[in-house]
Amino acid sequence: MYARLSGVGSCLPGKPVSNEELASRGIDTSDEWIVSRTGIRTRYLAAPEVTSSQLALEASRRALDMADVRAEDLDLIIVATSTPDFIFPSNACLLQGKLGNKGATAFDVQAVCAGFTYALSIADKFIRSGSHKKALVVGAEVFSRILDWQDRATCVLFGDGAGAVVLEASEKPGILATALHADGSHNDILNVPGQVCSGTVVGDPFLRMDGQAVFKFAVRVLAEVAEEVCAAAGVASTEVDWLIPHQANIRIIEATGKKLGIDRDRVIVTVDRHGNTSAASVPLALDEAVRDGRIKRGQKVLLEGVGGGFTWGAILLEF
Ligand code: UT7
Repeated sequence: MYARLSGVGSCLPGKPVSNEELASRGIDTSDEWIVSRTGIRTRYLAAPEVTSSQLALEASRRALDMADVRAEDLDLIIVATSTPDFIFPSNACLLQGKLGNKGATAFDVQAVCAGFTYALSIADKFIRSGSHKKALVVGAEVFSRILDWQDRATCVLFGDGAGAVVLEASEKPGILATALHADGSHNDILNVPGQVCSGTVVGDPFLRMDGQAVFKFAVRVLAEVAEEVCAAAGVASTEVDWLIPHQANIRIIEATGKKLGIDRDRVIVTVDRHGNTSAASVPLALDEAVRDGRIKRGQKVLLEGVGGGFTWGAILLEF
């Protein structure tokens, strides 16, 4: 028994915001700097009243439509997010309520930019165990809420959005191998080191990052974990039809593709238009490439994420 993708969907809020527009809002930056260091040209920023569970709902509806699955028939809902609507209840329960599903297992996964690979791997294990048959797996974020708009080294990098997949039990191949890792000793190079305590924020509520340390770490582990899942599935990385790495920086994406021997035209890239949408970046890119016809049934697709914690993971699947 496999867990196989039967639907994909995504949602981006509002209109794209260009680098020039950010500079015109008083951020000391330029289109030339952002494009040359990151490849990012635009990102989507949710209006203040739009929450990550609302983005998750739109993406989920599209994925359920494609899969031809009714929300009430889902028996598992997992949302990967670091920017949930509330401390609790989980975004998965909020999404469940909005979808009108009753009784499914529902919970959030917090593994930052590796969140979707974590959530999808967990859903795979639920389905392969035989306990669950139809899962909705979502990555949804409003990172714009945790950015310090005075910190030009981070605020230009991120965007908001959501991506969703429906995963069903199937005798046809689907997810072939998964690998998840973490190393908490690197928690200080990317974090939001604040908390709510007795009604006030204690510590720093904004995203902080040592960009160069994250860059080096990401390039190393993305190549390692890709090789690990390919070896587990008995597939050479050069046999992979499509690589969908976490979309943080075009230079990290290109370095990863090169290390794996995967040509640039087999790597799905959205970072130029979406920026870094954390747990949403991989399902957003997957949805785009399925809907525009690049990814076809039977092809091998390698998904990868890396993020704060540090966490990282990969999934090799046959679409
Ligand atoms: O999803 C989580 C994963 N996150 C990532 O993967 C991010 C990984 N890291 C990176 O992508 C890169 O390290 C960055 C894009 C964040 C930064 O690029 P960099 O080439 O490492 O630049 P840097 O931090 O070394 O900064 C170089 C210069 C500095 O100026 P000085 O000290 O050389 O005068 C910065 O102050 O660029 C300056 N700078 C900027 N200039 C214009 C930093 N941010 C900006 C900006 N606009 N937005």
